[in-house]
Amino acid sequence: MREICGLILAAGEGTRMRSSLAKVLHPLGGTPMILWVAELCRRLPLKRTLIVVGYQADRVRAALDGEPVEFVHQAEQRGTAHAVLQAQSALSGFEGDLLVLSGDVPLLSAQTANGLLEAHRRAGAQATFMSTRMPDPTGYGRVIRGPQGAFLRIVEEAEATPEERRIAEINAGIYCFACPLLFQALGAVGASAVKGEHYLPEVVSIFRDRGLKVQAVPAPDPHEVLGVNTRIELAQAYGVLRRRVLRELMADGVTVLDPEATHVAPTARIGRDTVLYPGVFVEGRTVIGEGCTLYPNCRVKDAQVGNRVTILDGCVVLESEVGDECTLGPYAHLRPATRLRRKVKIGNFVETKKSVIGEGSKVPHLTYVGDASVGEGVNIGAGTITCNYDGVSKHQTAIEDGAFVGTNTSLVAPVRVGKGAIVAAGSTITQDVPPDAIAFGRAQQVNKPARAAEWRRRAKQAAGAGGKKPDGGEDDKE
Ligand code: UD1
Ligand code: CA
Repeated sequence: MREICGLILAAGEGTRMRSSLAKVLHPLGGTPMILWVAELCRRLPLKRTLIVVGYQADRVRAALDGEPVEFVHQAEQRGTAHAVLQAQSALSGFEGDLLVLSGDVPLLSAQTANGLLEAHRRAGAQATFMSTRMPDPTGYGRVIRGPQGAFLRIVEEAEATPEERRIAEINAGIYCFACPLLFQALGAVGASAVKGEHYLPEVVSIFRDRGLKVQAVPAPDPHEVLGVNTRIELAQAYGVLRRRVLRELMADGVTVLDPEATHVAPTARIGRDTVLYPGVFVEGRTVIGEGCTLYPNCRVKDAQVGNRVTILDGCVVLESEVGDECTLGPYAHLRPATRLRRKVKIGNFVETKKSVIGEGSKVPHLTYVGDASVGEGVNIGAGTITCNYDGVSKHQTAIEDGAFVGTNTSLVAPVRVGKGAIVAAGSTITQDVPPDAIAFGRAQQVNKPARAAEWRRRAKQAAGAGGKKPDGGEDDKE
């Protein structure tokens, strides 16, 4: 069987994106477009995969770090035919077929690409390209056929007549060519009349003119071969991808209340009987278990979430672990390296960072827990702050099993609250609290019996005289 190599074209700037970032680096579902195509190549029976880079070549190479690909440089972007030509020396002596893909056609499936390769082999063709009918073919190369429907050539939008532009059948930019015939034909591609570029689709008609076997293979679904040249097409491609991911999740038992308003990255995993409310974003390599509920407007990125977890409205969970049966929010913020064991409750307006919180512990309201290790069965009252930063370094707070921290407590790290200890509300804790102790870290309250009326009378007097009100200070001292 003939060997197959892959070649991905990714050297262009993508001027129609109007961006300082090379087009193929724009993320689609959180992954740069070019990586989608490189990962597709991994799943195809290719001997080697080459990528033509040029514009922002270093950044494109960096985005493909670790991928089994070789790079070919196109110093000046003089068109897609010129781009393929740059691979000639890397492929010298190669006598198999070359699968040419575009770095800006990111949704192509392995099944469809394999279909093209099989059709090419079955027909014994020297050139096979994928075509489809686009509802709006604007921007694509159109497929020109003779009266009997035989393929004649592909004409680019910029070079097409108004009648040609009315043709809905387009070139998807995915080809298979026999080598070294391809490189012989590339030498014959002239500069186009309008743009002066060397167009790869020209090669298909050159093959035809040379009596070689050429065929167009229809794409099973035009959505798969959407080309991304503009931000509008980027959004369309994202819509296709998003719906594809959600359909798979729903088929696997995830409830998505409103698929039009739910975003799950293709790199995320979600278990069955989990329910996603509208406005949920599940990003990166997040894994969510079974039977969870994510209420509206939550964002979960690169997190590990266990089973039967409830995430109430408006939470942000980043690079964290959430154990089984935890409850978060509403409006909780789990910053990176938060690790919640089982049945932890993190309530309203609580922020956590780089902290472990033990099984069954509760942090129900208005609290910051950073650089802390919190044991099991701990209760942390509203308004508690771990003062972890002194302006120079970060310090650790330890709160041991069964401890109770009263509301509005400042725990000035480094500090430890021992097992079973109690911290009185309103304390500023600067020293370790031994196990089972009660710590009062607050100023003593002084009550002055029956002095309220007297105080009010003097306050009114002072206001009448235009003076300031008594502060209950100096002359009030006992
Ligand atoms: C191309 C096809 C068009 C097809 C469409 C499908 C040509 C001339 N036209 O048009 O028939 O309908 O794709 O999506 O091929 N590139 C380089 N070097 C260059 C120029 C481009 O590497 O000198 C790369 C780009 O980075 C891009 C790919 O080739 O990834 C396609 O180039 P683009 O300019 O997007 O071609 P289209 O106008 O979309
Ligand atoms: Ca394109």
